[in-house]
Amino acid sequence: MMSSKEAVMNEKEENIKIHETAFVTSSFRAVDEQLSQDHFAKLWENPKTTQWIKEYLALVSPEEPFTHCLRNRYFLESLKALIEQQEIEVVINFGSGFSMYPFLLHEKMVHIEIDKPEIVDYKKNQIQEWQDQELLPKRNIHFIGVDFSKNYQEELLASIQSIKANKSTFILLEGVLFFLTRAETNHLFEFFDSIQENGDYVGSASFQDSIKGTQAFQNLLRFFNQKVSKTTEDDYQTMEDSYYHSIKNYKVIDHQDYFSLSKTYKHSVKQAKELILNENFYLLKKN
Ligand SMILES: C[S@@+](CC[C@H](N)C(=O)[O-])C[C@H]1O[C@@H](n2cnc3c(N)ncnc32)[C@H](O)[C@@H]1O
Repeated sequence: MMSSKEAVMNEKEENIKIHETAFVTSSFRAVDEQLSQDHFAKLWENPKTTQWIKEYLALVSPEEPFTHCLRNRYFLESLKALIEQQEIEVVINFGSGFSMYPFLLHEKMVHIEIDKPEIVDYKKNQIQEWQDQELLPKRNIHFIGVDFSKNYQEELLASIQSIKANKSTFILLEGVLFFLTRAETNHLFEFFDSIQENGDYVGSASFQDSIKGTQAFQNLLRFFNQKVSKTTEDDYQTMEDSYYHSIKNYKVIDHQDYFSLSKTYKHSVKQAKELILNENFYLLKKN
């Protein structure tokens, strides 16, 4: 009989493998646990993703595991600091994939993990299995299946409100905007405004337009076209700083990228800029 992991992997053969990107992201985080501080990411490793990664590193950019490790590190440290300062009580992860923040943060936290239904169902079962085997600690996690390209607002608002009530929140949006349209992105940020209170936070990751001129991005496009499906550079969304600075009711309180985080966490960058998919990370506060 097929395991649940094989079933998801098989199903993925059919359509765009954004799922695949969630497995890949987790495996990258496991490459340097010291840097990512994610000691659970390795649970998601599987032979197909390992093979994918081998090809990806050779054909796209060998720096990729470290860009993902530092992304995890940045959001993890930001979350830890805000929890320490008692500023947030609920973490809401939009497009949560297979990230493992609930297990890396204090057990008192409430987590809401939102992604496509097949992803959250799979993650929920897998986590239950690992908790039964005592590979993962118990946490307060609510899984909600939603497609951001559909009309989700009303139902999702009710589900989130029933969980968070008037608790303070941190919304995380990482590795997702690249795959969404601008209209879907605008709807998401309007939705965040509708569920958050003054003093709440959003953490977001995205690429700037200039990425499209790099060798690394051209490599990525070629790789996706070979392995995933035919796309052009216009199928991938990039965001300028000005987008974040113009979000109504929010203020950008921190902005980092791979190079600044490498300095902070004493990571030595190996490749030339041209060969790095440099991602930007923003912390916003509602006011
Ligand atoms: C690259 S993964 C990143 C996962 C996770 N945030 C992380 O950093 O490990 C992208 C995630 O976005 C989700 N996603 C992409 N488009 C989506 C959509 N339209 N609705 C819901 N989730 C979506 C995918 O299912 C996938 O889990």
